[in-house]
Amino acid sequence: AAAATGNNLTFGAIAPATADIDQVRVPAGYRWDPIVRWGDPLFVGAPNLTAAGTDPAAQEQQFGYNCDYLDVLPDRGSTTRGVLVANHEYTNENIMFAPDADPALVARTAMAAHGFSPVELRRSGAGKRWSYVVGGRRNRRITATTPFTLDGPAAGSELLKTAADTTGRRALGTLNNCSGGTTPWGTIVSGEENFNQYFLCTGDEREARYGLGPDGDERGWRTVDPRFDATGSAYRNEPNRFGWVVEIDPENPRSTPVKHTAMGRFKHEGANITIDAATGKAVAYMGDDERFDYLYKFVSKGTFDGSGTAAARAANKRLLSAGDLFVARFTGDGLEDGINDGTGIWIPLTRGGRSMVPGMTIDEVLVYTRLAADKVAATPMDRPEDVQPSPKSGRIYVACTNNSKRGATGLPGIDEANPRPANKDGHIVEITEIGGAHTGTRFRWNLFLICGDQSSAGTYFGGHTGPVSPISCPDNLAFDSRGNLWISTDGQPSAIGLDDALHCVEVAGPLRGRVRQFLSVPAGAETCGPVIHDRDGSVFVAVQHPGEGGSWEAPQSHFPDYGSGVFAGPRPSVIQVTRR
Ligand code: FEO
Ligand code: CA
Ligand code: CA
Ligand code: CA
Repeated sequence: AAAATGNNLTFGAIAPATADIDQVRVPAGYRWDPIVRWGDPLFVGAPNLTAAGTDPAAQEQQFGYNCDYLDVLPDRGSTTRGVLVANHEYTNENIMFAPDADPALVARTAMAAHGFSPVELRRSGAGKRWSYVVGGRRNRRITATTPFTLDGPAAGSELLKTAADTTGRRALGTLNNCSGGTTPWGTIVSGEENFNQYFLCTGDEREARYGLGPDGDERGWRTVDPRFDATGSAYRNEPNRFGWVVEIDPENPRSTPVKHTAMGRFKHEGANITIDAATGKAVAYMGDDERFDYLYKFVSKGTFDGSGTAAARAANKRLLSAGDLFVARFTGDGLEDGINDGTGIWIPLTRGGRSMVPGMTIDEVLVYTRLAADKVAATPMDRPEDVQPSPKSGRIYVACTNNSKRGATGLPGIDEANPRPANKDGHIVEITEIGGAHTGTRFRWNLFLICGDQSSAGTYFGGHTGPVSPISCPDNLAFDSRGNLWISTDGQPSAIGLDDALHCVEVAGPLRGRVRQFLSVPAGAETCGPVIHDRDGSVFVAVQHPGEGGSWEAPQSHFPDYGSGVFAGPRPSVIQVTRR
């Protein structure tokens, strides 16, 4: 068995390569293997993927498509058992189905391919490779039709009622789950991101602020389920039941997952939760991934109970149901000091269950959070994706992935926190809460990375002047046990002509800012997860949308089976990287 030290993930950076390489590349001394792939059966008797793909009934029992958020959670006290939780953001019908497939079957299968898959894992010992367990007790599929409870202050609001749910408290399904986080009490939270694409809407002013309009329902789901047509009165509010942070309990496959209205409605990338040391409150940091949208935090009303009892766990699962919602305003201190930095404030949108926004009720603030934040002069950011507090320092890292329209005519120009026009490479903001108080309203900030190829003007690598790997379009963030930041990318091919990657960077000490590439993903894919078990010498990533730009007849990627499986096209998969 491998020794349990943080040194088990030493590696030499891999060279960057062009994006057309249909391979997973890892450092010398490591290997990669799939754990679970799209279409793998999760239950005893469930069908496998076939050459024709899958169908609605089979997909309900199989691992879903386009895995994005990922965690791998060893059971307490065990090195050989655990549970993997992945979500399934969206579907690529062009490579999942033959062009002549029945549209209704395609729609129903795609609905079943969304959502979550908790899956049990086993292995023979520490440092060994994991396998998933067909028929594991905690295996579950959550899809676009699974019942969810809407909780928090806006639950039951008129804005959340439909013909099918006159209570406004019970929604069906979750859509476009992007990143997420594992809570200190062992549940999974995840953000419903680009939910607008599933709904046909008239596109009034409030809907338009969320991208909802007559161009929606790209997948034609309204032909099999009328709630995706929100142009009539019956389902006018159905889109309001998406765009939330959802919480699922992977330990209890019979539990009803929850959508937390207290955390606001926007294109949630995800949420990452830390416990404030002084008060015991749970604080969630959250990005709204749209050009010129905002950074938020939520501070729970209740306090975390770390006693580990069943009653404590039940109480902790209510922490995200009540609390205060804030949005960030960044102020630069000028560039005369040679660094992009300054101060900021968290502006309250709700306090004590009441609206803090003049002219808006609490229900309106929570359902139309973007409009509330517009009113209080929050800072428009360059697409805030994952927001991750460091478990070592308590500083918060915000991946601003890119913003092609920064500085365009009629749109916000550059500022010290978003300093590049037509920002194609993105940057990472480092936030320090004043006095270390996650519950407070004042912070300091600086740009830790201004991404790109080191040779291009305007890049900055935390003050590091030695060689670094090129990095662009930071998306998902994770920390290892030593406090190093791991950054996965989504968009390097178009931004800098390189394959999407996983990078590791020191955030403290003499090597602060040294970005090194650990892994790259196959053609057309985005690197998601990531999960870093450095003590165990292993890294896990979700390989999302491999071969996305290809077609059924001419696959662009053959990952991960490369001709050895029954399905010819690519399969989004969770992989593990371990020492040889
Ligand atoms: Fe689904 Fe913001 O990436
Ligand atoms: Ca400055
Ligand atoms: Ca993302
Ligand atoms: Ca992204």
